Amino acid sequence: MRKPLFVGNWKMNLTGPEATELTKKLTLAVGDLGNVEVAIAPAFTSLRPVSSIISASSMGLAAQNLHAEDKGAFTGEISGAMLAELRVKYVIVGHSERRRAFNETDVMVNLKIEAALRNNIVPIVCLGEKGEERLARKTLTVVRKQLNALLEGIPLEQSAKIVIAYEPVWAIGTGHNATPDQAQEVHKYLRDRLTKRYSKEIADQIRIIYGGSVRADNIYDLMMESDVDGALVGSSSRDSEQFAAICSYRHMNKAEA
Ligand code: PGA
Repeated sequence: MRKPLFVGNWKMNLTGPEATELTKKLTLAVGDLGNVEVAIAPAFTSLRPVSSIISASSMGLAAQNLHAEDKGAFTGEISGAMLAELRVKYVIVGHSERRRAFNETDVMVNLKIEAALRNNIVPIVCLGEKGEERLARKTLTVVRKQLNALLEGIPLEQSAKIVIAYEPVWAIGTGHNATPDQAQEVHKYLRDRLTKRYSKEIADQIRIIYGGSVRADNIYDLMMESDVDGALVGSSSRDSEQFAAICSYRHMNKAEA
Protein backbone atom coordinates (compact mmCIF):
# COMPACT_ATOMS: atom_id res chain seq x y z
CA MET A 1 0.00 0.00 0.00
CA ARG A 2 3.00 2.30 0.48
CA LYS A 3 4.75 2.96 -2.80
CA PRO A 4 8.53 2.51 -2.29
CA LEU A 5 10.55 5.69 -2.68
CA PHE A 6 14.20 5.89 -3.71
CA VAL A 7 15.96 9.22 -3.45
CA GLY A 8 19.46 9.89 -4.76
CA ASN A 9 21.30 12.50 -2.72
CA TRP A 10 24.19 13.80 -4.76
CA LYS A 11 25.37 16.09 -1.95
CA MET A 12 27.96 18.73 -2.99
CA ASN A 13 29.11 16.71 -5.98
CA LEU A 14 28.82 17.06 -9.75
CA THR A 15 29.17 20.24 -11.77
CA GLY A 16 26.28 21.32 -14.02
CA PRO A 17 27.49 19.33 -17.05
CA GLU A 18 28.20 16.28 -14.88
CA ALA A 19 24.76 16.50 -13.28
CA THR A 20 22.97 16.77 -16.62
CA GLU A 21 24.96 13.87 -18.04
CA LEU A 22 24.14 11.64 -15.07
CA THR A 23 20.49 12.68 -15.20
CA LYS A 24 20.24 11.71 -18.86
CA LYS A 25 21.82 8.33 -18.11
CA LEU A 26 19.43 7.82 -15.22
CA THR A 27 16.31 8.61 -17.22
CA LEU A 28 17.35 5.79 -19.57
CA ALA A 29 18.60 3.38 -16.90
CA VAL A 30 15.76 3.84 -14.41
CA GLY A 31 13.01 4.17 -17.00
CA ASP A 32 9.44 4.07 -15.80
CA LEU A 33 9.31 1.60 -12.97
CA GLY A 34 5.66 2.27 -12.21
CA ASN A 35 5.57 0.48 -8.90
CA VAL A 36 8.25 2.63 -7.24
CA GLU A 37 8.86 6.36 -7.01
CA VAL A 38 12.34 7.70 -7.80
CA ALA A 39 13.74 11.16 -7.12
CA ILE A 40 17.14 12.78 -7.46
CA ALA A 41 18.57 15.60 -5.36
CA PRO A 42 21.24 17.59 -7.24
CA ALA A 43 22.93 20.71 -5.94
CA PHE A 44 20.80 23.90 -6.10
CA THR A 45 22.72 25.13 -9.14
CA SER A 46 21.70 22.06 -11.15
CA LEU A 47 18.03 21.97 -10.16
CA ARG A 48 16.81 23.88 -13.21
CA PRO A 49 18.61 21.86 -15.93
CA VAL A 50 17.87 18.58 -14.14
CA SER A 51 14.23 19.63 -13.79
CA SER A 52 13.87 20.11 -17.54
CA ILE A 53 15.59 16.81 -18.39
CA ILE A 54 13.36 14.78 -16.08
CA SER A 55 10.14 16.64 -16.89
CA ALA A 56 9.18 14.00 -19.46
CA SER A 57 10.18 11.10 -17.18
CA SER A 58 8.61 9.66 -14.08
CA MET A 59 11.52 10.77 -11.89
CA GLY A 60 10.90 13.47 -9.33
CA LEU A 61 13.11 16.38 -8.36
CA ALA A 62 14.39 16.80 -4.81
CA ALA A 63 16.39 19.55 -3.13
CA GLN A 64 18.95 18.97 -0.40
CA ASN A 65 17.92 21.81 1.90
CA LEU A 66 15.71 24.88 2.23
CA HIS A 67 15.41 27.87 4.52
CA ALA A 68 12.60 28.03 7.07
CA GLU A 69 11.32 31.43 5.81
CA ASP A 70 9.75 32.01 2.40
CA LYS A 71 11.71 35.22 1.73
CA GLY A 72 13.71 37.92 3.42
CA ALA A 73 17.15 39.07 4.47
CA PHE A 74 18.88 35.69 4.62
CA THR A 75 21.92 36.10 2.40
CA GLY A 76 22.88 32.92 0.62
CA GLU A 77 19.74 30.97 1.48
CA ILE A 78 17.09 29.36 -0.76
CA SER A 79 13.42 29.24 0.20
CA GLY A 80 10.72 26.65 -0.29
CA ALA A 81 8.82 29.12 -2.49
CA MET A 82 11.86 29.32 -4.80
CA LEU A 83 12.17 25.54 -4.93
CA ALA A 84 8.48 25.10 -5.70
CA GLU A 85 8.97 27.31 -8.79
CA LEU A 86 11.43 24.73 -10.14
CA ARG A 87 8.93 21.89 -9.67
CA VAL A 88 10.83 20.51 -6.70
CA LYS A 89 8.69 17.75 -5.24
CA TYR A 90 10.78 16.67 -2.25
CA VAL A 91 13.28 18.32 0.04
CA ILE A 92 15.74 16.60 2.37
CA VAL A 93 15.73 18.17 5.82
CA GLY A 94 17.80 17.46 8.89
CA HIS A 95 20.50 15.41 7.20
CA SER A 96 23.17 14.50 9.73
CA GLU A 97 25.81 16.31 7.66
CA ARG A 98 23.83 19.53 8.08
CA ARG A 99 23.36 18.87 11.76
CA ARG A 100 27.07 18.28 12.20
CA ALA A 101 28.60 20.88 9.86
CA PHE A 102 25.97 23.64 10.16
CA ASN A 103 24.71 23.06 13.68
CA GLU A 104 21.14 22.39 12.61
CA THR A 105 18.95 21.41 15.52
CA ASP A 106 15.64 19.56 15.67
CA VAL A 107 13.92 22.90 16.33
CA MET A 108 15.38 24.40 13.15
CA VAL A 109 14.52 21.29 11.15
CA ASN A 110 10.96 21.41 12.48
CA LEU A 111 10.59 24.93 11.02
CA LYS A 112 11.99 23.69 7.71
CA ILE A 113 9.40 20.89 7.64
CA GLU A 114 6.68 23.51 8.08
CA ALA A 115 8.21 25.62 5.31
CA ALA A 116 8.30 22.66 2.93
CA LEU A 117 4.68 21.72 3.62
CA ARG A 118 3.56 25.36 3.27
CA ASN A 119 5.06 25.28 -0.25
CA ASN A 120 3.61 21.89 -1.18
CA ILE A 121 6.98 20.16 -1.08
CA VAL A 122 7.29 16.79 0.61
CA PRO A 123 9.87 16.91 3.39
CA ILE A 124 12.19 13.92 3.70
CA VAL A 125 12.89 14.14 7.40
CA CYS A 126 16.22 12.59 8.43
CA LEU A 127 16.93 11.23 11.87
CA GLY A 128 19.17 8.59 13.35
CA GLU A 129 21.53 7.75 16.16
CA LYS A 130 25.30 8.17 16.32
CA GLY A 131 27.60 5.16 16.69
CA GLU A 132 28.24 5.75 20.38
CA GLU A 133 24.51 6.06 21.04
CA ARG A 134 23.89 2.66 19.43
CA LEU A 135 26.71 1.12 21.46
CA ALA A 136 25.13 2.57 24.61
CA ARG A 137 21.79 0.99 23.56
CA LYS A 138 20.18 4.41 23.31
CA THR A 139 19.03 4.13 19.68
CA LEU A 140 15.30 3.98 20.30
CA THR A 141 15.40 6.75 22.92
CA VAL A 142 17.38 8.98 20.57
CA VAL A 143 15.09 8.48 17.58
CA ARG A 144 11.97 8.90 19.73
CA LYS A 145 13.21 12.27 21.00
CA GLN A 146 14.16 13.34 17.48
CA LEU A 147 10.80 12.29 16.04
CA ASN A 148 8.87 14.12 18.76
CA ALA A 149 10.83 17.32 18.30
CA LEU A 150 10.77 17.19 14.51
CA LEU A 151 7.02 16.62 14.24
CA GLU A 152 6.07 19.10 16.98
CA GLY A 153 3.02 21.02 15.78
CA ILE A 154 2.79 19.27 12.40
CA PRO A 155 -0.95 18.76 11.99
CA LEU A 156 -2.66 15.47 11.22
CA GLU A 157 -3.86 16.67 7.79
CA GLN A 158 -0.28 17.29 6.67
CA SER A 159 1.33 14.29 8.30
CA ALA A 160 0.61 11.46 5.84
CA LYS A 161 2.69 12.98 3.04
CA ILE A 162 5.83 13.38 5.13
CA VAL A 163 8.65 10.92 4.46
CA ILE A 164 10.85 9.84 7.36
CA ALA A 165 14.42 8.78 6.57
CA TYR A 166 16.08 6.66 9.22
CA GLU A 167 19.77 7.28 8.71
CA PRO A 168 22.03 5.90 11.42
CA VAL A 169 24.94 8.35 11.43
CA TRP A 170 27.49 5.52 11.69
CA ALA A 171 26.19 4.03 8.44
CA ILE A 172 26.42 7.15 6.28
CA GLY A 173 29.31 7.07 3.83
CA THR A 174 31.07 4.34 5.79
CA GLY A 175 30.25 1.23 3.76
CA HIS A 176 28.67 -0.27 6.90
CA ASN A 177 24.92 -0.35 6.40
CA ALA A 178 22.49 -1.21 9.16
CA THR A 179 21.47 -4.83 8.93
CA PRO A 180 17.90 -5.46 7.78
CA ASP A 181 17.01 -6.45 11.37
CA GLN A 182 18.50 -3.26 12.81
CA ALA A 183 16.67 -1.12 10.24
CA GLN A 184 13.37 -2.96 10.74
CA GLU A 185 13.55 -2.59 14.53
CA VAL A 186 13.87 1.19 14.27
CA HIS A 187 11.38 1.58 11.40
CA LYS A 188 8.76 -0.45 13.26
CA TYR A 189 9.38 1.55 16.41
CA LEU A 190 9.00 4.82 14.49
CA ARG A 191 5.77 3.59 12.92
CA ASP A 192 4.42 2.69 16.35
CA ARG A 193 5.28 6.18 17.57
CA LEU A 194 3.54 7.68 14.51
CA THR A 195 0.48 5.56 15.32
CA LYS A 196 0.45 7.00 18.84
CA ARG A 197 0.96 10.55 17.59
CA TYR A 198 -1.51 10.48 14.69
CA SER A 199 -3.43 7.25 14.01
CA LYS A 200 -2.82 3.78 12.63
CA GLU A 201 -4.32 4.83 9.32
CA ILE A 202 -1.88 7.74 8.99
CA ALA A 203 1.12 5.78 10.27
CA ASP A 204 0.41 3.08 7.69
CA GLN A 205 0.61 5.70 4.94
CA ILE A 206 3.83 7.42 6.02
CA ARG A 207 6.87 6.13 4.18
CA ILE A 208 9.88 5.38 6.34
CA ILE A 209 12.93 4.99 4.16
CA TYR A 210 16.40 3.83 5.14
CA GLY A 211 19.69 5.60 4.40
CA GLY A 212 23.32 4.74 5.03
CA SER A 213 25.61 2.79 2.67
CA VAL A 214 22.76 1.47 0.54
CA ARG A 215 24.06 -0.41 -2.48
CA ALA A 216 22.71 -2.74 -5.14
CA ASP A 217 23.97 -5.71 -3.14
CA ASN A 218 22.20 -4.87 0.13
CA ILE A 219 18.95 -3.18 -0.93
CA TYR A 220 17.00 -6.36 -1.58
CA ASP A 221 17.29 -7.68 1.96
CA LEU A 222 16.54 -4.25 3.43
CA MET A 223 13.42 -3.94 1.25
CA MET A 224 12.18 -7.35 2.35
CA GLU A 225 11.55 -5.86 5.80
CA SER A 226 7.91 -4.87 6.21
CA ASP A 227 8.55 -1.35 7.49
CA VAL A 228 11.35 -0.36 5.10
CA ASP A 229 9.68 1.67 2.35
CA GLY A 230 12.61 2.72 0.21
CA ALA A 231 16.02 4.32 0.55
CA LEU A 232 17.90 7.58 0.68
CA VAL A 233 21.01 6.82 -1.31
CA GLY A 234 24.25 8.81 -1.26
CA SER A 235 27.30 7.62 -3.14
CA SER A 236 25.58 4.75 -4.99
CA SER A 237 23.16 7.26 -6.52
CA ARG A 238 25.98 8.85 -8.52
CA ASP A 239 26.48 5.67 -10.51
CA SER A 240 23.59 5.27 -12.94
CA GLU A 241 23.78 1.49 -13.08
CA GLN A 242 23.99 1.07 -9.29
CA PHE A 243 21.13 3.46 -8.68
CA ALA A 244 18.98 1.87 -11.38
CA ALA A 245 19.68 -1.55 -9.86
CA ILE A 246 18.69 -0.25 -6.40
CA CYS A 247 15.42 1.17 -7.76
CA SER A 248 14.60 -2.10 -9.51
CA TYR A 249 15.46 -4.27 -6.49
CA ARG A 250 12.31 -6.31 -7.11
CA HIS A 251 13.88 -7.92 -10.14
CA MET A 252 16.94 -8.80 -8.19
CA ASN A 253 17.69 -12.39 -7.68
CA LYS A 254 19.51 -12.40 -4.37
CA ALA A 255 22.10 -14.84 -5.62
CA GLU A 256 23.10 -12.47 -8.43
CA ALA A 257 23.22 -9.27 -6.39
P1 PGA B 1 25.63 7.01 1.61
O1 PGA B 1 24.91 8.36 2.06
O2 PGA B 1 24.63 6.22 0.80
O3 PGA B 1 26.80 7.45 0.79
O4 PGA B 1 26.00 6.30 2.86
C1 PGA B 1 23.59 8.33 2.52
C2 PGA B 1 23.11 9.72 2.86
O5 PGA B 1 23.92 10.57 3.22
O6 PGA B 1 21.90 9.97 2.78
